[in-house]
Order: sequence, then structure tokens, then C-alpha cells
Amino acid sequence: MEIDNLSSSAAGSYKIAVLGLGHVGLPTAVGFSSLGWDVMGADEDAAKVDLIKAGKVPFFEPGLEDLLQRSLASGRFQATSVVTQAIRTAQVIFICVGTPQREDGAADLSQIEAISRTIGRNLNGYKLVVEKSTVPAITALWIQRTIQRYSALQASDARGDGNGENAAADLEAREADFDVASNPEFLQEGQAMENFFRPCRIVIGADSERARTILRDLYRGLQCPIVVTDVTTAELIKHAANAFLSTKISFINMVTDICDAVGADVTRVAEGLGLDPRISPSFLQAGIGFGGYCFPKDLRALAHLAEQQGVDSSLLRAVERINTRRIEIFLDKVRKSVWVISGKRLGVLGLAFKPNTDDIREAPSLRIVEALLKEGAELRLHDPWAMPAAKALYPPEAGRITYCESPYEVARGAEALLLLTEWDEYKHLDLGRLRDLMQVPVLIDGRNFFAPEEARQAGFSYAGMGRRGGGPYVRESAASGQSRPTTPDWAGMGEGLNG
Ligand code: UGA
Repeated sequence: MEIDNLSSSAAGSYKIAVLGLGHVGLPTAVGFSSLGWDVMGADEDAAKVDLIKAGKVPFFEPGLEDLLQRSLASGRFQATSVVTQAIRTAQVIFICVGTPQREDGAADLSQIEAISRTIGRNLNGYKLVVEKSTVPAITALWIQRTIQRYSALQASDARGDGNGENAAADLEAREADFDVASNPEFLQEGQAMENFFRPCRIVIGADSERARTILRDLYRGLQCPIVVTDVTTAELIKHAANAFLSTKISFINMVTDICDAVGADVTRVAEGLGLDPRISPSFLQAGIGFGGYCFPKDLRALAHLAEQQGVDSSLLRAVERINTRRIEIFLDKVRKSVWVISGKRLGVLGLAFKPNTDDIREAPSLRIVEALLKEGAELRLHDPWAMPAAKALYPPEAGRITYCESPYEVARGAEALLLLTEWDEYKHLDLGRLRDLMQVPVLIDGRNFFAPEEARQAGFSYAGMGRRGGGPYVRESAASGQSRPTTPDWAGMGEGLNG
């Protein structure tokens, strides 16, 4: 895909700051700079910033490192650990800091609050402050108040008259100096750059024409529908999108259990459902459930918000409950296949919460690993990218936890093989070779990744999720999950910008 280079008159006319250089911030910063804008990315983690300055991405995200290096070389992207410097040089500030979860399920907005205070204290001219991080509805209102409050304090501090009567006047005077907008991100880990350059929609939530114009301008190199709305509605679109996708997954997983009970094949049910354009085939991939940094916490945060507002949250709570139960349902399958888990050598393929990432946060695979270890299994583990992160949580331990260089090493002497993350790398495994290496050829497929007939023909006893019937499995069917591009055609898009 060719991304239109912005005309030289527009490119560089806004300076952008991206605060927080994680899974959302870094792709966003590099994306905007590849579109021709001057971007300064800031993060308080100096070690992370040093890595980024050296052209290294601190996590695995396909295509990002290459674009980062080109952005650095073009001079249109700089990274700093001095957050105030980024704020003061920018006209547009994207807030991309973390919004983790509090114990009660609500979003912990302390990082958003802290950055709003810093913005308030460094307000030197008009700034458009844009929420990118996923936040509950009405967070923008708090950001607005906080920036106003702290910019007024800064003004009165500068005059040396403390917080006295002039603070209110300063507050008035500064009211016009900034806008707060919501422009939620819809980036999926593992395809963040594809999502940035080829979005299915851009949501702009802004309450002033000035803010709307700037945001439209920033994205004008991209082709897609733009939904323009007020700030609170935009915030809700993001939370509702993640909750809806989670609901689809829990729905198909509930159907999976019915398939197991009555002898049907959920992959064929999903295919039959997904061909209806009102339903669509995406996010109907059954298995061990959803994980990651977004779905579980966003679902809980929306349920929490609904409850706070006296709205019935039982649908969202059911989605969460079904997802939590996936682990026990999978473990039951393991028990049914191998009987006693204690003392068994089990091979695990895949640890990341999904393919194409090294992220293990809230990964269902790790909850399974933990439960198996508790029951006394000996585990042999493999993941193409997530092993370093997994090792930090579950260090290698002789006779209990072994990390393996290849899936074949995982199979050596194993009494069952468990597929927990559907990496492309596992697609072309030689099943016969795997079987020969195992003590007992049992394959338990937590993502319905393998074709049951192929596995059985290779000599495996195969158990999938909701696959007790249905006839021959067609892997290329529309229901086999969303397509994951292997060679993205945006890979060469930065060319020409640097020359
Ligand atoms: C999700 C959303 O898809 C993005 O649009 C959003 O921007 C992002 O959260 C966010 O809020 O930042 P992500 O968490 O990267 O993106 O991952 P997804 O691809 O959505 O997958 C989430 C989980 O659902 C994974 O554990 C995956 O294995 C599982 N999943 C997904 C299924 O179990 N079945 C499916 O059919 C699809």
C-alpha cells in the first residue's frame, strides 16, 4: 500500500508529542512520523528510550523496527526521557501511557492524572491533548480539569503570588489554550503497523472545531471512514468495541462447549455463522479464551463503569465468567486424555497470549502452565518469541520446567502435546516426526489449529475444542480466523520520505 506523503506545506506544520512509548505509543509515534509529521516520543523509562534511540524496539512487533529506524534516519522522529521537553515543543500531544487495572476491576488512571498535571504545568501556547490510551468514559473531562487546574497553579507560581485570588483569573485566561480530544487506538498487537496505516475507521471525539480540524489533518494521508463525535462518545466506542469482540469470543466458546456435549464441530458452526455478513467471520475462533493487556481489563473496566452508573452489567460479567472457565475446561480435556497429570511429561507449544507478539500479559496459556505445574506435571515449553518473558515468571527448573529450542525438542519423551498459541511456525510441523519423538502420541489442541484428520493419520490421539463432529475440516474456510498478513505491503512505505 502506498501511503500518500503529506504535502510539504502541511508536513511538519504540527509538532507531535507521544507520551508513553509502549505497545500503543511507539507504533503511533513511528506511524505519524512515517506519514511525514515531526514527532517526539517521550517515556520516563530512560533505558527504554536509549534502546529506541538506537533503533531497537523493546518488544516484538512485526515491521516496527524497520520503520523506527527509517523514522530516526529521516530526523522526523526523536525519543526523549524528558517528558516536559516533548510537551513544550509540541502542538499536539498524544497520551499513550498505561491504564492498568485496579483491584476492584476499575481502570487505574494514576498515570493519566500524572501526565495531565505535567501538561498543565508546561502549557506554553495552544495544545491539543489527545487521549489514545483506552480509558473509561468521562476521563477526558478529568484531564481537562486537571490541565486547567495545574496550568493556573503554574502561572501563579511563576508570578510568586502562591495560590491566591489570581489563580481563578489565570484559570479563565488559560481555558482557551488547549483542547482535550479522544482518538482511541484500535491497534492489535502483532499487526499494529498494518492497523495504523490501514485502519477500518478513525474515531475523532472532540468538542471544538479547532481540535477536529487538526485531527482530521493529521490523518489525511490515510483512507478510511472517519467517525466524528463528542469526546465521551469516542471514549465509549473504544471500550464497547473491545467488549463486543470479547463477547463474540465468549459466545463461540460457549457454543464450543455445546458442540463438545452434543458431538458437533464448532469450527464448522463458526464458518456457517461467519458467512452471514451481519455476523462476520472475525473473532469466532474458539479455544482457551482471550487474554492480553486489553480485552480482560477493558471488559472489567466497562462492567465496573456500568455498575457504578446503575446499569445492568450481567452480559459483560457472563462474558468474563465464560472466559475464565476456559482454563478449567481445557484442563479437563488434558485429564480426560492423560488421566493423572502429576508426574506426566507434557509438551507445551505457544506461550504468548496470541501469535506475532512476545506479550504474555494475562495469557491463558500461562494460567494453564501454572495449573499444570501445581498438579505436578513436568513441562517442556516452546514459543518463538515469548520464552524470555515466560522464563522471568517461571525460571527453568531441572525435571520440572524446561524451555526448548524447537517444537521437536518439546515433543521428546512427552506424554501429551498441548497447543496453546497458534503460531504460523507450527503450521508446517512434521507431525510424524513429532509423534516418533513422544512417549505417548496425544495432541490436545487449545486453538483448533491442527486438522484432526491429519493429526489422526499421523498417529495422534487428537482432542480439539468443540470438535467432536462435523466431517472433514477445511482449514482455508472463512471461519478459520482473521487473516494475518505475512508480508505486509506497507513494509516499503517509508521509502522516499527520507531522501
Ligand atoms: C485488542 C483489539 O483487537 C484491538 O482492536 C485494540 O486496539 C486492542 O485490543 C487494545 O485495546 O489496545 P489485542 O489485545 O492486541 O487487540 O489482541 P486481539 O487480536 O484482539 O486478541 C485478543 C485475545 O483474543 C487473544 O488472546 C486472542 O487469542 C483471543 N482471540 C481473538 C480468540 O480467542 N478468538 C478470536 O477469534 C480472536
